[in-house]
Amino acid sequence: MNRSLEKIDPVSVPHRTLYTGAKIPAVGLGTFGSDRFSTSEIAEAVLGAAAIGYRHFDCAAVYGNEKEIGASFQKLISSGITREELWITSKLWNDKHAEEDVIPACKQTLQDLQVDYLDLYLIHWPFPNHHAQGVDVNSRDPHAVSYIHENYMKTWRQMERLMERGLVRHIGNSNMTIPKLKLLLRDAKIKPAANEMELHPHFQQPELFHFCLENQIVPIGYSPIGSPRRPERDRTPDDTVDIEDPVIVKIANRLNVHPAVVCIKWAAQRGQIPIPFSIRPEQYLSNLKAVITQPLTEEEMREIATIDKNNRLIKGQVFLWEGAKDWQDLWDIDGQIASA
Ligand SMILES: NC(=O)c1ccc[n+]([C@@H]2O[C@H](COP(=O)([O-])OP(=O)(O)OC[C@H]3O[C@@H](n4cnc5c(N)ncnc54)[C@H](OP(=O)(O)O)[C@@H]3O)[C@@H](O)[C@H]2O)c1
Repeated sequence: MNRSLEKIDPVSVPHRTLYTGAKIPAVGLGTFGSDRFSTSEIAEAVLGAAAIGYRHFDCAAVYGNEKEIGASFQKLISSGITREELWITSKLWNDKHAEEDVIPACKQTLQDLQVDYLDLYLIHWPFPNHHAQGVDVNSRDPHAVSYIHENYMKTWRQMERLMERGLVRHIGNSNMTIPKLKLLLRDAKIKPAANEMELHPHFQQPELFHFCLENQIVPIGYSPIGSPRRPERDRTPDDTVDIEDPVIVKIANRLNVHPAVVCIKWAAQRGQIPIPFSIRPEQYLSNLKAVITQPLTEEEMREIATIDKNNRLIKGQVFLWEGAKDWQDLWDIDGQIASA
């Protein structure tokens, strides 16, 4: 941890308000190391980021580092940061959707993260289709199925029970689509508070983004910089690069910042919560500063709105089921939920 870095007062970081009235910091630190960094490097980044003012951390059981991050949270809490000041999100992995698995999976995460409750617990993907860490995109779970709403609701009921038991304060989803969210909103006893989704200038998902806002679901944007260092398996030849886009580069030059910082400013100003990943202190500091320093102009916001390329980076091929056409089936492109 670089202790000589500038520190940001967490109180000066803007917040967004969930429908419960709870406040979530407008930027968080991602903790998925994409096979590139060790669990201890990421745990160190959590400590370093908290030291310079981050209070919001995006975790997940499948990232395989919750124990190490939990040790960091423990250190933060013993150093005087209260649990209430932290915003901790985690996610239920796909192999734990069965009714009897949800509560134990959450308890395991709580134990690993060394906290009594989560601020937000998300169902990581709407499919119970597992894949081992780091597998090739052509790898398939032989038991993979398409979205089955009845089953998803069984998982959701257990998520609701977690809230009722006080183990989590909010529940939500990730990698959902409008048709799936409509069914969930129709049938849920407790509404989702947030939806974590891929969002960056070249993948703005305007319909889903607005649907979330209209339904008081806070959009949390993953891969906000366009995941420039994602693994080879998540790349296809047609993918575009947000931080090389001439509009983003032009604005970065005006502000004398890295193009990544422009992506974060755009995200926060548009109304989603970016959760950029970095273990490098200078980078995570500039990502936090992005939301408290000079905003983009209205003209720049309008220009960025025009560079959307509908370029989904995390296509999710590994979650496909037998008989699925291609990865587009995961995303209900024509407004219909694809079934097996
Ligand atoms: N819910 C889901 O299904 C889901 C899916 C994917 C991701 N996520 C979450 O979203 C988080 C972020 O996504 P991501 O890691 O895919 O992509 P990202 O945040 O868009 O990109 C991260 C990369 O950008 C570079 N970077 C970060 N800050 C920078 C700065 N200020 N200047 C220059 N370069 C910078 C870093 O590269 P170097 O390391 O090379 O410096 C870093 O590895 C994950 O960690 C995870 O928590 C969730």
